[in-house]
Amino acid sequence: MNLSGKTAAVAGGTGGIGMASAIAMSNLGASIILISRNEEKLKRTISLLDTSKNQQHHYLIADFSQSDSLDKLCESLDKHNIDILLNNTGGPAGGPITNANPEEFINTFNQHLIANHKITQAVLPNMKNRPYGRIINVISTSVKAPLNGLGVSNTIRGAVANWAKTMANELGQFNITVNNVLPGATNTGRLNEIFEAKSKKTGQSIADIKKGMESIVPMNRIAEPKEVANAIAFLASPLASYINGINLPVDGGRTPCL
Ligand SMILES: NC(=O)c1ccc[n+]([C@@H]2O[C@H](COP(=O)([O-])OP(=O)(O)OC[C@H]3O[C@@H](n4cnc5c(N)ncnc54)[C@H](OP(=O)(O)O)[C@@H]3O)[C@@H](O)[C@H]2O)c1
Repeated sequence: MNLSGKTAAVAGGTGGIGMASAIAMSNLGASIILISRNEEKLKRTISLLDTSKNQQHHYLIADFSQSDSLDKLCESLDKHNIDILLNNTGGPAGGPITNANPEEFINTFNQHLIANHKITQAVLPNMKNRPYGRIINVISTSVKAPLNGLGVSNTIRGAVANWAKTMANELGQFNITVNNVLPGATNTGRLNEIFEAKSKKTGQSIADIKKGMESIVPMNRIAEPKEVANAIAFLASPLASYINGINLPVDGGRTPCL
């Protein structure tokens, strides 16, 4: 696996799965354009990226929930030659679908599907002119089987997966592949927030909630972000040249369907 000479734009690249993916791809030689809202975190993460193969790393600040900020990001991305795009952001708030406010669907749709779409459209003109293109979307195993208590998320994840499959159909002819990585429970800031919210609601300890989550995974543990990042780095690499339009769960076998 070698990404030398390639440039990867990594959205949501300062935490959890995004940060681990930026590290994994830089270790394979890619130059990284890191994107998130927080400049301090961006600078800190850039300092963790490998530069031993003369990689050049940059960052761009953007908030995907703000249309103006997203448009400004797209104007900047348009000027770069990007070989690999990782679409990724923070997860939606949890809660049963029966209680969901219609606004939550719209906000989540904007932050996930519309953000992916605008960013992809911004990088495509240059990507189509290059001999190489990889678009990878971080979604969730709820694409295959809805997760209880994540009503808005389940709904929007399905839309993102359908968007991605349609993109894969249209972009294969340009040697651009589009694939989705579906993390299971992964040890990131996002998961810790979910644990804390559940603990507050139920009075259960965080340790017990974690144990309960591990008990439904055949491998009996939660993933480390780098285990998801390694799958992303593989899909980004030349070794994955004929893998297109798939949903790849990285969940220790938790998803109950084939
Ligand atoms: N962790 C899990 O167990 C798990 C399981 C299934 C699916 N997923 C999904 O995988 C994705 C990544 O999850 P994660 O656990 O790695 O999340 P995380 O640790 O919370 O990291 C999220 C990243 O996205 C950035 N971000 C958040 N909101 C943003 C916004 N509005 N605009 C731009 N950037 C934003 C954050 O940086 P800034 O704060 O600097 O903006 C951070 O870099 C999410 O969609 C999540 O739902 C996670």
